[in-house]
Amino acid sequence: MDGENKIIRNLEVLEEFFIPSRIVHREGQLKALRDCLNPLLKGQNPRDSFLWGKPGAGKTCIARHLTQELGKETGVRIAYVNCWEAPSRFRILFGILEDLGVSLSVHRKGTPLDEVLGALRKRLERVVVILDEVDRLEDEGVIYDLVNTPNLCLILIANMEAALYGLDARTRSRLSSAENIEFPEYSGREILDILKGRREWGLVPGALGNSQLERIASRARGDARFAIGMLRAVAQNAEGQDLEKVPDSLLEETLSRARLPEPRLGRLSPQQKMIFDMLKEKKSMGSALLYQEFLKSLKARGMRPVVGRMFRRHLEFLMDRDLIKSAGYGRWRVYTAT
Ligand SMILES: Nc1ncnc2c1ncn2[C@@H]1O[C@H](COP(=O)(O)OP(=O)(O)OP(=O)(O)O)[C@@H](O)[C@H]1O
Ligand SMILES: [Mg+2]
Repeated sequence: MDGENKIIRNLEVLEEFFIPSRIVHREGQLKALRDCLNPLLKGQNPRDSFLWGKPGAGKTCIARHLTQELGKETGVRIAYVNCWEAPSRFRILFGILEDLGVSLSVHRKGTPLDEVLGALRKRLERVVVILDEVDRLEDEGVIYDLVNTPNLCLILIANMEAALYGLDARTRSRLSSAENIEFPEYSGREILDILKGRREWGLVPGALGNSQLERIASRARGDARFAIGMLRAVAQNAEGQDLEKVPDSLLEETLSRARLPEPRLGRLSPQQKMIFDMLKEKKSMGSALLYQEFLKSLKARGMRPVVGRMFRRHLEFLMDRDLIKSAGYGRWRVYTAT
């Protein structure tokens, strides 16, 4: 029929930020996080948690899914802030207040940090704060602010378990009772099941076959975001050409044009990008010199200096993504852009 969708039934289901009502293959993680949050149902103190694992492993999705459920059941307010989008201490605290619906008497730009923190600490009801992508934080002091705010349950999310190692001793000690929840990479079969769920709700029946879904799963290397992105891309391509089914040739063409899941350069924080660009320009640099240059360039942009610990965390992040590599040890360590 003309004008009617032949391939896509519900595009929203294929979008990255869609929160599925059914989550597959994450029973252990769901239970662990639920156990942390469940005391809220009885008006008791919940437990903080730390979710970590590779990109596309379901961390954000599970945190949002469970807190959404909890919000409906208890009326507990939830705030979600992604540190990649809001890396500074002020913007994170401000973002949390906005999500919680706490209004500030002073205008955003003119409000001092103390006042924002004060407003957050003044509320009495229990809240849950999801701090996503904490390995992109540019001022780790905000974690200290949050662990020292009463009635606030924290869910921290990062790619590497080491993301919290660099925190100062006081914050680490506060977080020592947080539940550590690992998200291992999905297997091809698990990705396939996730894709089947999206196909069922997102596509017209019969538009894409099982073997085609398997083909996408085998390319995704355990990254559910990449897999769902591919499903969306191929469905949109076929829809755009007014086809009734996705032909194998179109699937192969879409897959061959896809960028591999990593490195995801576009998702570096401004500071990470500065370090990466400096290394790319100079090819390679010793760690001390790199740090000095980094500080200079922060100053030139009117940005606050960054402690060595944070600088090393940025380097680890870039290395984990294979964007840079290192050779040598200690002060003789040299970094190179790959
Ligand atoms: N077990 C699952 N069941 C259904 N959908 C899932 C599952 N795991 C992940 N997804 C979907 O896959 C996509 C990627 O997952 P998510 O955004 O949670 O990854 P992530 O672990 O937060 O990755 P990153 O570290 O890159 O932020 C999302 O669209 C999410 O809804
Ligand atoms: Mg995420």
